[in-house]
Amino acid sequence: MAGKFIVIEGLEGSGKSSAIKQVAKTLRKYGIYKFIITRDPGGTPLSEKLRILIKKGIDNEAITDYAELLMFYTARIQLLENVIRPALLRNIWVIGDRYDLSSQTYQGCGRKLDKMLLHILKNTVLKNFQPDLTLYLDVSPIIGLSRILKKRKLDRVELESLDFFNRVRSCYKLIAAKDHRIITIDANQELRNVHDRIFFYLKRWLIDQGMKKCDGIPG
Ligand code: TMP
Repeated sequence: MAGKFIVIEGLEGSGKSSAIKQVAKTLRKYGIYKFIITRDPGGTPLSEKLRILIKKGIDNEAITDYAELLMFYTARIQLLENVIRPALLRNIWVIGDRYDLSSQTYQGCGRKLDKMLLHILKNTVLKNFQPDLTLYLDVSPIIGLSRILKKRKLDRVELESLDFFNRVRSCYKLIAAKDHRIITIDANQELRNVHDRIFFYLKRWLIDQGMKKCDGIPG
């Protein structure tokens, strides 16, 4: 069976990292041990360098919205062609911390960039390669950003206005409502409940994919 690509999406502070651990745990319960975890932007030497530039900027140079967009796509195509596709072809599953939906929402709605350009990039650069399943963790920007602020300072993107994050969130919700491969999970609630929901939806999806629970596997 070919590998599958499962993506976790959501605003900052939505709990993507712990959700990824829960996804990994659930995959193991269903006998899937061959998987890798990727992050977008990141995951190849070039993409990791771009990640630092995007998040921190350089020498106080203003990064234009289109330069940022193209950096995300440069990072993504390297990740897709050098890591994600080769893994899937070798029957290795991929759990992605973000993918193209982040550009559709952050750049398309947050930065209000040309939707047609985004469409062309998605279709031409990524050849419309899509995740098999996306779990969108829906959190209010105020809750999400306050979770981050308890741990560390905000980075270049996280310093955007609340309006920006509200636009991104609305866009996530709108796209998720129209696409049956995107499952929305309320991430405003306690972590334990979020994990329960992830397990519930992912289990259902895995069963639909023909996977069977491996009893006796701890955790
Ligand atoms: P994160 O992986 O720690 O969430 O950091 C990635 C940041 O970059 C986050 O603020 C969301 C933003 N981002 C975009 O604006 N567009 C994109 O396409 C991606 C992948 C991330």
